[in-house]
Amino acid sequence: MEKPTFYITTPIYYPSAKLHIGHAYCTVASDAIARYKRLCGYDVMFLTGTDEHGQKIEDKAKAAGVTPQQFVDKIVTGEKGVLDLWKLMNISNDRFIRTTDDYHVRSIQRIFRKMYDNGDIYKGKYSGMYCTPCESFWTESQLVNGRCPDCGGEVKYAEEEAYFFRLSKYADRVRELLLGGEFLEPASRVNEMVHNFLDCEGGLQDLCVSRTSFTWGVPVDFDPGHVVYVWIDALFNYTTALGYENDAYHDFDRYWPADVHIVGKEIVRFHSIIWPAMLMSVGLPLPKKVYGHGWLIMDGGKMSKSKGNVVDPYMLAERYGVDALRFFLLRSFPFGSDGSFSNELLISTINTDLANDLGNLLSRTTAMAGKYFGGTLPEAQEAGPEDAELLEMLAALRGRYAAQMEKFQMQNALAEVFRVISRANKYIDETAPWVLAKDEAKKPRLARVLYNLLESLRICGTLLRPFMPESMEKLAAQIGAPEAAMSWEAAEQYGVLPAAASVTKGENLFPRIDMEKELAALEELKKPETDPIEPFKENIVFDDFEKCDFRVCRVLKCEAVKKSQKLLRFELDDGSGVTRQILSGIAMHYKPEELVGKTVAAIVNLPPRKMMGLESCGMLLSAVRMVNGKEELHLVMLDDAVPTGSVLC
Ligand code: MSP
Repeated sequence: MEKPTFYITTPIYYPSAKLHIGHAYCTVASDAIARYKRLCGYDVMFLTGTDEHGQKIEDKAKAAGVTPQQFVDKIVTGEKGVLDLWKLMNISNDRFIRTTDDYHVRSIQRIFRKMYDNGDIYKGKYSGMYCTPCESFWTESQLVNGRCPDCGGEVKYAEEEAYFFRLSKYADRVRELLLGGEFLEPASRVNEMVHNFLDCEGGLQDLCVSRTSFTWGVPVDFDPGHVVYVWIDALFNYTTALGYENDAYHDFDRYWPADVHIVGKEIVRFHSIIWPAMLMSVGLPLPKKVYGHGWLIMDGGKMSKSKGNVVDPYMLAERYGVDALRFFLLRSFPFGSDGSFSNELLISTINTDLANDLGNLLSRTTAMAGKYFGGTLPEAQEAGPEDAELLEMLAALRGRYAAQMEKFQMQNALAEVFRVISRANKYIDETAPWVLAKDEAKKPRLARVLYNLLESLRICGTLLRPFMPESMEKLAAQIGAPEAAMSWEAAEQYGVLPAAASVTKGENLFPRIDMEKELAALEELKKPETDPIEPFKENIVFDDFEKCDFRVCRVLKCEAVKKSQKLLRFELDDGSGVTRQILSGIAMHYKPEELVGKTVAAIVNLPPRKMMGLESCGMLLSAVRMVNGKEELHLVMLDDAVPTGSVLC
């Protein structure tokens, strides 16, 4: 009989910087689901990839002095790039798509034309507030405190001739889809989508789907100068990677529609509103599900390169092992909600679950099988009253685990497995094999106790395979379980492990970590990675320096400049008796009230300059340095005893 199919995707990641643990979280979760489905007997197609076009990449490449293609190639295929990371993390994707792949580019052009030909894409003019990192236009009412509602970044007014997609036409069908209850999960995200984007003021608006302000994208082949909006380019990857509108692959009919798109909560809008509408437009069946997972947060905020709070998955995998890291990510956080990452949690999870519970069960069991029976249990075994509860739990485990996995609740599925592992450890204490071993007549009972422990390890180990593939292979070898005994079918049966299996105590799969020492070592590693300093400037003649008039000033008043994210307005005592006004772009670094009364340094003989309608007479001196790719700025402050008006020379 042909296997049923299961098509699962991750978002395609922006290769604008190295990927961090947040990206790894999503990919590892998708990988565990893909492996689980394969274990259950599905013919799985697991797709991941990179979303390589757009202004952000173009800008970053320019800043790095390379072409956009060179820029993304380095991040995707370069050393410790995206491909290396997924290899390291043991990701079992069947395909990897890059949106710069020729076949994808050509498919996108065909798809864009298809929607143009059917009247769903038309030419118009766009004006609005644009967020460059998110490549999104926003209406005033969607902004949050004047900033991008997705990333919180600055938005700029922008205007351009553009193509539009008739998203509004699909509003009713999309609403029906969302309220249908199956399409978008967790259910809590449904209301958010309907309320914020469908039932908001003005309803669902048509979407601007081309850009003329940059060139790094898929060209609209019938209108030079326009490139296709990066989100159309990106979303259709899920179909082009199967061969839709191209000849590179031929399994679109086999796997489409996708069973689930796993995405982060910030891109649920694109996947649950725009994506279905576009599929409706080109007449394709809709994916069965979009699952919006939560974020890994650090210090209360989303991890992001621009905030400088990212955690490097390479470093963690190298220190603790890939499987321990994969396990931690899925054991510690509920998939649908945000989770707070910390090193303490990582180490304590490894110690408690892996070193203590699973590791101990394995090493005690294999050691006893070796010590009491030379590694091979006898056929003669005797059941006992202590067995019942453990065996009942084992019999129910696969069903309980599957119920959680089917809902993508990996944390709960793992909790089910670890409940049985704890029970098995308790069973050792209850049956006290070391006491049984002292009495030759109790050998059959001892053999059954150890057999039950091996069976517990076999069944739990099988169900842990999607999470820790390599370690569970080692576990299987230690308990002497052949591949067939580690199958999905066998996970529901007792007595599969041959009594004569040869058990060996192998390496300790999950060594205990010394929390205190390890935290100190990590702290050491955390010391900021300071970027290279600005190159020193060329020598100048002394007269040039002499011309600059640096003075000591005291801050009399300081306030934010209205409508500006960056500027603070200072009133300064510069010693002259006349108050000096200076505007300084440091509002992201200081609160105005914390600067009043401070003694600062300023250059006071620059020509006055108008900013936001206010005149700035000079510039405050700051110390600036890039740390972890982020600008660190410190206003130069002097001892308050220094008289104002003093010359800095
Ligand atoms: N390129 C788009 C997606 C296009 S899909 C057609 C994009 N890329 S991204 O690289 O910015 O982020 C993609 C995904 O990475 C998020 O949706 C999320 O799944 C994952 N994560 C990025 N940061 C994360 C955390 N801090 N925590 C958890 N997941 C995170 O958006």
